[in-house]
Amino acid sequence: MSLRRVQTKPAQGGIAARHVAIIMDGNGRWAKKRHLPRAVGHQRGVEAVRALVRAAREMGLQTLTLYAFSTENWNRPEDEVSALMGLLKRYILADLKEFVENNVRLQIIGNWRAMAPDVVALLDDALTQTAGNDGTTLVVALNYGAQDEIARAAAKAATKGAITPETIAAELDTADLPPLDLLIRTSGEVRLSNFLLWQAAYAEMVFTDVLWPDFTPDHLREALEEFAGRERRYGGR
Ligand code: IPE
Ligand code: IPE
Ligand code: MG
Repeated sequence: MSLRRVQTKPAQGGIAARHVAIIMDGNGRWAKKRHLPRAVGHQRGVEAVRALVRAAREMGLQTLTLYAFSTENWNRPEDEVSALMGLLKRYILADLKEFVENNVRLQIIGNWRAMAPDVVALLDDALTQTAGNDGTTLVVALNYGAQDEIARAAAKAATKGAITPETIAAELDTADLPPLDLLIRTSGEVRLSNFLLWQAAYAEMVFTDVLWPDFTPDHLREALEEFAGRERRYGGR
């Protein structure tokens, strides 16, 4: 059975997930366990991202959203923040060609235009180069905080008229993405850490103890199978 069939026709007969989001946590603990610098954990985290993005597009997943840097992550020591920014730039530079060639559309959510000018320029270029693609959408959350996103959306909605759940949703960074189906968090923490608070209203959640650098495409497949077996009721009966 091909991977695409696993994704589009789940074994349990449930509905396949269209939009999966992941809180990629545990890079620091992965490194600590091995007496390595945190930056090495982040580097291995990028390798996990690379493998997962490849698998997601091979499975035909419609949208994969990855929490890469939160509005609160600026509170980390300067050397760690700059290591993360360096890794982000290197990842985009190294993999952009692969996205273009494999029909991956890049999208960024969060207040990313407030980031350093070289990062913004790099992302702008990557967005332009992949804008015409219609395969898997890879959404990277950068300088992202759900509270910031909702506040920005509400302020925009207010300039246009009434503030309702629909008018706010229409201004969210995720407005043109499919509804969030499945939210995964690695590393054993059971919290949202300001990620997709609005979009998670009826998302299914999977929490795993696996540390992010150890997360493989098989872990994603397991989570998708778990999702397919869930019954979503949306408050109805
Ligand atoms: C996730 O790993 C990466 C980012 C938040 C950017 P952490 O760096 O949070 O790793 P832990 O939670 O300290 O193990
Ligand atoms: C959430 O992880 C942010 C990202 C994965 C980018 P954190 O490690 O920052 O979250 P907390 O501090 O444990 O809540
Ligand atoms: Mg963490």
